[in-house]
Parts: sequence; C-alpha cells; structure tokens
Amino acid sequence: MGGRRSSFKNRFSFYLLAIGSACGLGNLWRFPYIVGENGGGAFLLLYVFLALTIGLALLISELMIGRYTGTSILAVTRHISTQTKKKYYIFGWFSLFISAVTLSYYSVISGWVLHYLTQFIMSLFQSDSEFYLKSISVNVLLQNSWLQFMLASVHLLVAAVIVVKGFGEGVEKRISSLLPLFGMLVVVLLVGSLSLDSTHSVLRFLFYPDFSKLSWSSLGHAVGHVFFTLSLGFGTMVTFGSYLKSEDHLPTIGWRVTLVDTLISIISVLLIFPIAFSSGKQIATDPSLVFDVLPSFLSSIKGGILFGLIFFLFLWLAALNASIGLLETVTANLTEKRPDMKRPLAASLSVISILMMTVFPAFSGTIFKNIKILGRSVIEIFDSILINIMLPMAVLGMVIIFFKTLSESDRKKLFINDEFPTSVAMYSHWVFFVKWCVPVVIILGLLMLFVGIFV
Ligand code: TRP
Repeated sequence: MGGRRSSFKNRFSFYLLAIGSACGLGNLWRFPYIVGENGGGAFLLLYVFLALTIGLALLISELMIGRYTGTSILAVTRHISTQTKKKYYIFGWFSLFISAVTLSYYSVISGWVLHYLTQFIMSLFQSDSEFYLKSISVNVLLQNSWLQFMLASVHLLVAAVIVVKGFGEGVEKRISSLLPLFGMLVVVLLVGSLSLDSTHSVLRFLFYPDFSKLSWSSLGHAVGHVFFTLSLGFGTMVTFGSYLKSEDHLPTIGWRVTLVDTLISIISVLLIFPIAFSSGKQIATDPSLVFDVLPSFLSSIKGGILFGLIFFLFLWLAALNASIGLLETVTANLTEKRPDMKRPLAASLSVISILMMTVFPAFSGTIFKNIKILGRSVIEIFDSILINIMLPMAVLGMVIIFFKTLSESDRKKLFINDEFPTSVAMYSHWVFFVKWCVPVVIILGLLMLFVGIFV
C-alpha cells in the first residue's frame, strides 16, 4: 500500500527528527508542573516506569505501522476500512483532530515563550535590566488574553509559512540539529540550579518516593503525559516510520528515542525545582511554574540575561519545531485526502480552525475566568480533557489499527533482527505489552480519573 517514501540519507537525521518531535514544551514546561501537582518522587517513578514500558512498546508499534505501510495514519485507516468494510477511518480522523486541538493549546504556550523571549530582548535596552526582568510576571500575561491570542497567532503563522512553503521537513531538520546545543545550555543551567541551597530538599522531594502523595488521578496523568511527550496517538510517529529504511531496527530506534526523551524530562525537573524551592514561593503546580520561576532566577545570576535570551530562543525554536510537525501532519493528511486542494488552502483552513480553538486556553484568565470546574480553570480543564482523556483514547485506536494492519509474521519480521539476539526474547513481551498492558493501563487510568472526581 502506498509508495515507499524517500528514506533518510542517514540514521542520524532520523534521530534528530524523532527526538526533536518528542522533546519540546512537554518536557520543559508541562512535566515539571505535573510532577509538582502529583507530589514528586512517587509520581516520577511511576512516570519513568510507564514511559519505558508502555510508552516504548507503543512507539515501536507506531513506527512499525509507518514502516510497513509507507504512508500516513489517515491513508492506513482508510485502507483498512475498505478492506473490512468497517469504519476504521474514524480512528484516523480522531488522531488528526487531536493533533489540531493539541496545536491550538501548544500555540498558546509557545506564545508565552515568545513573550518572555521579547522581554529578554527588551531588557537589553533598559537601564536597569535586572529590575525590568524581575518585574515581569506571568500573571500580567495571563490576564491579557488578547496578547496571548495575538502571540499564539504569530507563532502559528510562522509555522504555517514554513509548512506552506513546503520546506517543513527541511526546517525541522535544521532546528532539530540545534537542539543538542540547547541540551548543553540546559545542562549548564542545571549546574547553576543544583548549587542552590534548596537542592537537598529537592532531591528528597524527587527521589524519595512517598506513595501516599499519589492521588486517584495520578495514573491517568502519568499515562497521558507519556503519550503527549513521546508524540504517541497523533500519527506523527507513523509518518516518521514511513521514512525509515528496511535495515533500521525499530526496537533500537524506539528505545533510544524514549531514553533521550525521559532523560530530558528528568533533567528539566532537576533544573526547575531547586529554583522553585529556593524562591520561597509555595511550589506552583499549574502551567505557570516554569514561567514564574525561571526569569527571576536568570536575572539574578551572572550573565543570566544572555542565558535567558538564548534559553527562551531555543525553547521557542523547540516549540516551533513541534508546531511545524503537528501542522504538517494535519495539512499533509488533508491534501492526501483531497488531492485537488492546494497546500496553501489546506494549511490556511487548518490554521483558521486551530485559531478558533485557541480562544479557550487564551481567554481562560479573562472571559472564562469565572468558569471553574472542581477548582480548575478553563486552561487546566482543556489540558486535562485533551491529554488525560482524549489522547489515551486515540492511542487505544492506534493499538487496534496496529493489530489490523500487521499480521503476526509481519510483526515478527520487523521486530526480530539477527544482529540483536535479545530481540527474539523481547518479541513476545512487546506484543503482550501492546495487546494487554496498554489497554488495561489506559482504561484503569481513565476509571481512576473518574473516581478521583468524586473522592
Ligand atoms: N512531544 C511534544 C512535546 O513533548 C509535543 C507533541 C505532541 C508533538 N504531539 C506532537 C510534537 C506531534 C510534534 C509532533 O513537547
């Protein structure tokens, strides 16, 4: 089915692209606050365990769907629908819908990053730049919804221009190749942050699991975040898998991508928490955490303004990279479905519908200020429904598609490799994980989320 797409010239550029799509705001912005929200160490342990088991198993499966079919999720589901005369294409559309909603939310947070980037640039022109930076507060931004909406639009527009010009993949590769530099910067900042007095209590908080701090919703939160950060359930990894060559060993690739992504998430909590603890504020457990604590820390260390500027520039590039990936997925699938539709039109339609959804998170602090469900604001509800509920459902669909697409012998052929003797033993574990553990954990997570509402 479908023609094999152009393969990567070398494996390294594939890794850059896959890791570039996995590592983004999910690791640096979302992960620290959900760890805080769920009480620290025990949640971190649960998360790492789930990432290395069900996350890895699913990543291999998604890559395999793409590698086997050589095409994207919508085409795969359409093909199964025609074969079986059942409506499997609904799963494909659902994944695409999730990508669009995610991008709308992602754009708002990317807009926050853009705001901080401009503030750091502007501080260079102030007589007292330290004071200027200390005075910026995330609350000012949260209460200015039009500003958030505008910033999100600018961000989306930049992504759209890149996608329309058709060099999305090229730009993604170029940005991805900058990411190792970003990693180095984060490690430098990490050294600074770990030398703060609060480190001892942070290490205790993060590595001394206190299981009584887990709540009913913790499992659902961990599961949702594993999928979000590894970009699972969106169809992105299916598309990436379709670029792979036959000699690439999928389990090894999946393992490396998962490992790097998990390490970056751990590094990011190690970076953020010492700063948050030493700022004396009660530890923030909402989306503003990173934006609350980083700028004032950066403005108080030597050379911090330059560090801050580079940090937010890289963070924005990482966010742009992810946004290009998401928009590319939506646009490419639309044009594949409607070949008569030109790329600019498909991208414009996507952007307009995504912008309409942006209104909910962007106006959460003003128009929707009084809407609170269980003490949560609109932006938090949006996040929760999208990542903790809808995404796991999309992943369940992906599991079904996986088993419908590949037969036992296809799976074996793509998994087992003579160069890796352990792959023979791992094969049955992997199938067991995808077939049983993933659905059970997802359903359990959803049920517990639901129970958590009432207790
Ligand atoms: N994994 C990305 C992050 O952690 C977010 C993301 C989800 C994504 N789905 C995607 C990025 C699809 C690119 C493509 O920030």
